[in-house]
Amino acid sequence: MCGIVGYIGNKNCVPILINGLKRLEYRGYDSAGIGIVNNGHSDVIKRKGKVSILEKDIEKLNLNSNLGIAHTRWATHGVPNETNAHPHFNSDKSIFVIHNGIIENYQTLRKGLQKFGYQFITQTDSEVIPHLIDSFIKQGYNLFNAVRASLGELEGTYGLAIIYSKEPDKLVVARKGSPLVLGVGDGENFVASDVSAIIAHTKQVVYLEDGEVVEVFKDHFVTKNLDEDGEIEKEVHQISMTLDELDKGGYQHFMLKEIMEQPDSVCNSMRGRILFDEGTAKLGGLENVAKQLAESKRIIISACGTSWHSGMVGEYMLEQFARIPTEVEYASEFRYRNPIVNKDDAILFISQSGETADTLAALREAKIRGALCLGICNVVGSSIARETHGGVYTHAGPEIGVASTKAFTSQLIVLALITLLIARKRDMSLVDGQAIVKELEMLPDKISKILKMNKQIEEIAGKFKDAKNFLYLGRGYNFPVALEGALKLKEISYIHAEGYPAAEMKHGPIALIDDNMPAVFIAPKDSTYEKIISNIEEVRARKGRIIAIASEDDDSIDRLVDYSIKIPDTIRMLMPVLTVIPLQLLAYHIAVKKGLNVDQPRNLAKSVTVE
Ligand code: M6R
Repeated sequence: MCGIVGYIGNKNCVPILINGLKRLEYRGYDSAGIGIVNNGHSDVIKRKGKVSILEKDIEKLNLNSNLGIAHTRWATHGVPNETNAHPHFNSDKSIFVIHNGIIENYQTLRKGLQKFGYQFITQTDSEVIPHLIDSFIKQGYNLFNAVRASLGELEGTYGLAIIYSKEPDKLVVARKGSPLVLGVGDGENFVASDVSAIIAHTKQVVYLEDGEVVEVFKDHFVTKNLDEDGEIEKEVHQISMTLDELDKGGYQHFMLKEIMEQPDSVCNSMRGRILFDEGTAKLGGLENVAKQLAESKRIIISACGTSWHSGMVGEYMLEQFARIPTEVEYASEFRYRNPIVNKDDAILFISQSGETADTLAALREAKIRGALCLGICNVVGSSIARETHGGVYTHAGPEIGVASTKAFTSQLIVLALITLLIARKRDMSLVDGQAIVKELEMLPDKISKILKMNKQIEEIAGKFKDAKNFLYLGRGYNFPVALEGALKLKEISYIHAEGYPAAEMKHGPIALIDDNMPAVFIAPKDSTYEKIISNIEEVRARKGRIIAIASEDDDSIDRLVDYSIKIPDTIRMLMPVLTVIPLQLLAYHIAVKKGLNVDQPRNLAKSVTVE
């Protein structure tokens, strides 16, 4: 969502902060700002729009400072404009605050502060924070204690970075519900909401936990809990991500790069995890809980967006092969509907970022209720990965494009491996396990083959770019793929699209079909093929325009559809790994042809860290 970056050391922080913001821009991007402190003097510069606009104006000012904080904003409270951008400050601009999250009681705090003469100039919830800190400093607190006292008054979530011109040897950061990491350098330290902002400078990071407040100096840092005085010993982690992984690698967009990376990312999700001779999977992060997982009476999968779609495929896999009743829940609903969770349930939380606020909240609720909680995350060291009892990383590599692509296929691979692990511990035969393993290993080559159809898919996209609506239809394992295809199109091309189980079409959506309505059928040759052909006929009879994702040996489908994209076959449980690829490319090319910002679609953020 919003992005935070901060620096203290001997270098000029301005270029470091601007480059950090550029790396963070994918998280949220309606405005950006920077605050610096230099020789008791402070400066704040904020701009609406992209970081490049801020950068251009800052260059003219020739600023130089060893202490600063910066922010990219994704608006929650208050329209995106220069005033509402961060940093926020107190009346004499000595305290600068950048904030990710939402302060739920800001109206009450604001009224209280106004009674003491504090004046507010923004529409944001965040602006109460510098004024609150100011009010404690006026009572004789130093910055660190004033921040701690202020946090005691806040309800809601925050990732915060604060500087104060009268204490220019430190920055103070705090976390509750919004991710923050410290980057440990040599005579310099960094803070960020995401390691990508500081990876160019250090690979030594410290992950902050909720309730922690840190005083960061240039050569050390002191971590405490909000309400205890003892110092907390923090572990320094070495991260392996490289800068190259964060670049576009010659592609026009991150999304295309990430689609094209899927033969490798899928391979990385399986690497070292397949035991062919035993027809099963080896998942280090589940070793301690594998028995409990295999004996669980029920599995619940909780996630949002694309991760929720992969969870739906997971439900089909787990019920078909592991024979454990499985339910898939929107994380946002799970927490608020008083769910029945038993001690012998296992709950899988799927999240690319590992920071989605709804999923994190659902995880915390499930832990209180005593279930075994496991994570499937991509971002190493993320909150969900750290707070679950065990889990499996997808190892898809950094995903920067807001539309999730390679994370989805890697989640499917991990779900297949988990299914295999449980099923083999239950009643799946060695031969059946080996058959799945064999098919898994063939997927990267099959994905490469589909990616070679990029040009053909681009041409099809050209024919449909002006459509106003789309229907995506699939059955069985391909129903969640229909949902995912529709989501991809909606989020980057702003075309209304709906995914449906193909058979449901006749219960309502068929009323929408006319010669303006394109329908994308996911129709590989599987046990539902004949039925889906009947659904295709139904659309054809009503003059709907049809694109079919079909099996490569299916020649007969061509007489029924306007366009077909032929893909290799695999077993049903793994088919979504292949059928989704043309849909990702179709959405991508339609959005590019419409001239839209594919990597940073309007109103969206990569990681949704507010509930
Ligand atoms: O990081 P997560 O997997 O938890 O994110 C969940 C959703 O916000 C995410 O999948 C979103 O729907 C994507 N924009 C879809 O492309």
